[in-house]
Amino acid sequence: MTSKTNRDITVGSKACNFLLNRYNKYKERGYADVVSRIFHGIPSKHAQVSYNNIEFCDNPTDSSHIEIQNVLHLGSYNYSGLNGHPDIIAAAKTALENFGTTTSGVRLLNGTSRLHIELEKKLAEFLRYDTVITYSSGFAANLAVFDTLCDANDVIFSDSLNHESIVKGIELSGARCEVFPHKDMAALAALLEKESPEIRKFIVTDGVFSMDGDLAPLPELCDLSEKYGCFLIVDDAHGTAAIGPNGRGTVAHFGLEDKVDIITGSLSKGLPGIGGFVACNDKTGIVLRTGSAPYIFSASIPPATAAGILKAVEILETSPEIAESLQYNAKFLRDSLRAADIDILDSETAVIPIVVRADEKAFMLAKRLHEKGVYANPVVFPAVKKGRARVRLNVSADLTQQELDFAVKTLIEETKAVLESTNAVAPAEMA
Ligand SMILES: Cc1ncc(COP(=O)(O)O)c(C=O)c1O
Repeated sequence: MTSKTNRDITVGSKACNFLLNRYNKYKERGYADVVSRIFHGIPSKHAQVSYNNIEFCDNPTDSSHIEIQNVLHLGSYNYSGLNGHPDIIAAAKTALENFGTTTSGVRLLNGTSRLHIELEKKLAEFLRYDTVITYSSGFAANLAVFDTLCDANDVIFSDSLNHESIVKGIELSGARCEVFPHKDMAALAALLEKESPEIRKFIVTDGVFSMDGDLAPLPELCDLSEKYGCFLIVDDAHGTAAIGPNGRGTVAHFGLEDKVDIITGSLSKGLPGIGGFVACNDKTGIVLRTGSAPYIFSASIPPATAAGILKAVEILETSPEIAESLQYNAKFLRDSLRAADIDILDSETAVIPIVVRADEKAFMLAKRLHEKGVYANPVVFPAVKKGRARVRLNVSADLTQQELDFAVKTLIEETKAVLESTNAVAPAEMA
């Protein structure tokens, strides 16, 4: 104990109690170490990973004694496989030497370098929108959009499986939120029908749903937007550099750039950096640049990151085979798992959930896979509903057929073993 104060700030908080109890349960059962495992080196498909006996533990183990294992990384958002690409590292290195490690500022003051401008121009061209504004994260980009563009006079229709950053952004805006059941267009139409034509209406959806791996029904959403005079916003965090021609995302996959008003996304998934973006028309761009709090009051992304992402977009523009290879790899894994009767929901992308239902089984499966040389993340409540726990796979474009075969064999064997095991408690008990 090194804290200078003994006051316990968690006492009296229901939320803190819930989190501490859950942590203790996981620790007791030996699963705390598969949460937030530690990567040593570039987290690309050949990763070196150790269990986490440092970050959460009250009695940390000496980090020099941790056991590092070579694993095939199937839990990474590195969909394009571009993290660690030599040209991207070279571009980032040059920028690091010329611009330092940070801008030491927010965008509207001294936080804009030439590289930020070049990156935003390049992304706008890539996505076929007037302008792109970058933020320090995809989360911040969603907060910015809703907080700045919507207010208490508006209504926002949001898919029930939309990402937490959308939920938090809507809360911040003060707008009324109507949640429609996941991808249920009839339910959405019924909700829209009830609204006055006078009120401003927004529809928001993930492009690729981050937990289930299915795609938003964008053509139908565009039709409803048009019919009811709504603005349409797509969060494409898991679609950018992962789906569509040259990885231009879900909106480009459906060819709907002229119908979707705003795309938000992340710069740390298919694009190998950190940060987020909003793609929109020029006028909306001016409003966000001059009025959105995360742009005005939060530091800009490091110039070296901007340089690396810029290079990644250039590579994607000239290499359609990256997105094609990702589609092949993901389809191969999905088809193989489905053929073995493994429940992967309606996944149709590189996000593939292996649903095992009980939280404990998700941890057990992640641990067994780790021991067999495959890294994948357990996902439990509250990230997914109770009883819908899973191990989630995120596929990369750079996997070879041999690696895919090894992955399929290991995933099928270990999933079957865990599902047959009775050594797991009911989901409610863990949550
Ligand atoms: C759908 C979705 N939107 C937004 C975000 C936030 O992106 P970032 O990690 O860049 O903050 C995520 C993160 O995983 C996400 O899955």
